[in-house]
Amino acid sequence: MMKRLWSEQQSQQDIEQCQELTIGGRLPKHCAIIMDGNGRWAQERSKQRAAGHEEGMESVRDIVKASSQLGVKYLTLYAFSMENWKRPRQEVNVLMLLLERYLRQELQELHENGVRLNAIGKLNALPKRVFNILHEAMEKTKNNEGLVLTLALSYSGRWDVNRAVQLIAHDVRRGKLSPEDITEERFASYLQTSGLPDPDLVIRTSGEMRLSNFLLWETAYSEIYITECMWPEFRREQYFSAMRDYMSRERRFGKTSAQVKTEPSKTVFQKVMDAFNPLS
Ligand code: FPP
Repeated sequence: MMKRLWSEQQSQQDIEQCQELTIGGRLPKHCAIIMDGNGRWAQERSKQRAAGHEEGMESVRDIVKASSQLGVKYLTLYAFSMENWKRPRQEVNVLMLLLERYLRQELQELHENGVRLNAIGKLNALPKRVFNILHEAMEKTKNNEGLVLTLALSYSGRWDVNRAVQLIAHDVRRGKLSPEDITEERFASYLQTSGLPDPDLVIRTSGEMRLSNFLLWETAYSEIYITECMWPEFRREQYFSAMRDYMSRERRFGKTSAQVKTEPSKTVFQKVMDAFNPLS
């Protein structure tokens, strides 16, 4: 029988690469990806755009598996933006079909590998069939403790900030919240990403240098990695390169380099406590 556990499917070389990346504990805890370039990848090969999306789905499979094997705790994929609804009807249909197919085909394997599926965005705008399977998948995997895979679907960062402001305004009007209580932490708790730590690393493929309305609040201090590679060609090797690049950077959060270097590193106890606290 084929081994379905990803931890049992790794080659020796793969295991060594993962070990090398995890040494030192500097892997990003949350990696968010703007998957771009499916259309251009197809065009360069005189194929239909749909073929690019289909190949892009293979990259999704590989990156999800690699993240789980590596021990990245949170992976967020920008799979369909609110603006993507403006694409030709036929392309939107292809993307919705692929999404449905991915969820149907992969759900059992994701579940067996401990993945918790999550989604952000205006989900009720999705076709009923996609919405239903998405809910089924989130329900089935809700108690899993491995990788948290968040799909951004019909998502817009501004829309989510706007939605949070509306929810806060309702709570203020009902007397549940006073304006003085609206701190950054409280504000973030109204976003759909509440419960997820901010992304440490944002990867964008295909060389475009934009955030395209992705996680606008949450990426305030994220490191950004842009590669010329088109999404259908972005597989674990390219992912590991992005990780290496990230790990070589110094994250300063507005402080000076000297301050960062003299900060006491966390104790083992603090690291264990952080691992149990999803908001840390
Ligand atoms: C951007 O490429 C990609 C998308 C709009 C959709 C991403 C979808 C997938 C990778 C396939 C299915 C997803 C899941 C989660 C199963 P583009 O079409 O904008 O490329 P272009 O800029 O070269 O035209």
